[in-house]
Amino acid sequence: MSQAHDGTLSVADIIQHLDNPYPLYHKLRAADPVYWDERANSWVLTRFTDVAAALRDPRYTVMGFMSDTSWIPADMRPTLEPPLRAVSRQMLFQDPPDHTRLRGLVAKAFTPRIIESLRPVIQQVADELLDQAETKGQMEMIGDFAFPLPAIIIATMLGVPPEDREQFNRWSSYFGRLLEGGDFSLEAVMEAVSEVSDFLDYFRSIIYARRAAPKEDLMQAMIDAEEQGDALSEEELLGNCILLLAAGHGTTTHLIGNGTLALLRHPDQLQLLQEQPSLVVGAVAEVLRYDSPVQITSRRAKEALQIGEKQVSAGQEVIMLLGAANHDPALFADPDQLLLARPENRHLSFGLGVHFCLGAPLARVEGEIAFSTLFKRFPHLLLATNEVEWQPGMVFRGLKQLPVSFT
Ligand code: HEM
Repeated sequence: MSQAHDGTLSVADIIQHLDNPYPLYHKLRAADPVYWDERANSWVLTRFTDVAAALRDPRYTVMGFMSDTSWIPADMRPTLEPPLRAVSRQMLFQDPPDHTRLRGLVAKAFTPRIIESLRPVIQQVADELLDQAETKGQMEMIGDFAFPLPAIIIATMLGVPPEDREQFNRWSSYFGRLLEGGDFSLEAVMEAVSEVSDFLDYFRSIIYARRAAPKEDLMQAMIDAEEQGDALSEEELLGNCILLLAAGHGTTTHLIGNGTLALLRHPDQLQLLQEQPSLVVGAVAEVLRYDSPVQITSRRAKEALQIGEKQVSAGQEVIMLLGAANHDPALFADPDQLLLARPENRHLSFGLGVHFCLGAPLARVEGEIAFSTLFKRFPHLLLATNEVEWQPGMVFRGLKQLPVSFT
């Protein structure tokens, strides 16, 4: 395996650069675009073309989420293995043909036509949240707007009580911690798995109530598929409910939070958006590219393969730095600039290939409504602080809080 670099850089250093990880990505690309990361024990791809090609390449597998359970002490196995098994049945961790079957069952609820029909509902929730903030006279963007908006919408779509959102957000963040991986203590993993287990119990009780009193929604469609026999197992049903609820709000919260921060830090671009409201579609794409809520994804090579001049062995992990691909100067002119009117914006923030984000049409509409309503209602919105704090983690990128003021 050839190494053109001195081996000192690592994606693990993102944690030290949460304020701005993009210079680190440029350094990684310059050192070696197909970088062997000693500390992560993985290849790291930073070029747009390599990341896009790998995401489409069937020679990689997504399977293997916590598939090695040898670390679990024998007495903890009965408690920890069932929740891990259910999580590993999510479509995100399945290759075709299982992936195709699972995705097909849910995809019918996420067509652009269905999502378009949700616009009035999303608009109403956005208006109500901003009414409440206006009455208070101040706003903490994340807690008051960016979090509740997508959380209420996905909960409603799934038939989960929206007022449970603080609780399911807490469980989702433990689920996110499992996805983040990294240097976990056994104790921390066990805590996260036990929280995810409570999340599964929560869905079990909702499903139980549903069997007695069916409704007409996405959750019911999945329950019916499970009841009809071999279309969906109970583990798959539970695992994918968790995926939809967690993926359906956390990342979109980051889209709205990161996007608001980016726009407030670039008043010329915000002014452009306010003067030309139709730019909002491009604005959502550009803030997704500029500061993606999901920075990293990874796959494992099923067979030996070649990327450029590098030989990847079967079984090796390949990290795809979506955030770096989105800032690759070979594809994006002035990649570190926020430019809402970019003519063609082929960002990779929703991934690519068979696992391309199922919720992308929903996230886009939520983002469009969030930004247009926010900056119309509060044309003089200002950051209340220059010091923002990012949530720790390498995979998901989002703010802890974003206090703003308005007149
Ligand atoms: C701005 C918001 C969002 C971002 C940035 C985002 C990002 C992503 C990315 C990068 C992937 C692919 C991961 C991979 O290939 O490893 C993905 C997959 C997925 N996303 Fe999203 N997502 C967002 C919103 C949503 C929403 C609102 C939902 C659901 C309502 C959702 C549901 C899913 C599902 C189910 C998958 C798995 C698809 C599959 O495996 O076939 N996402 N998302």
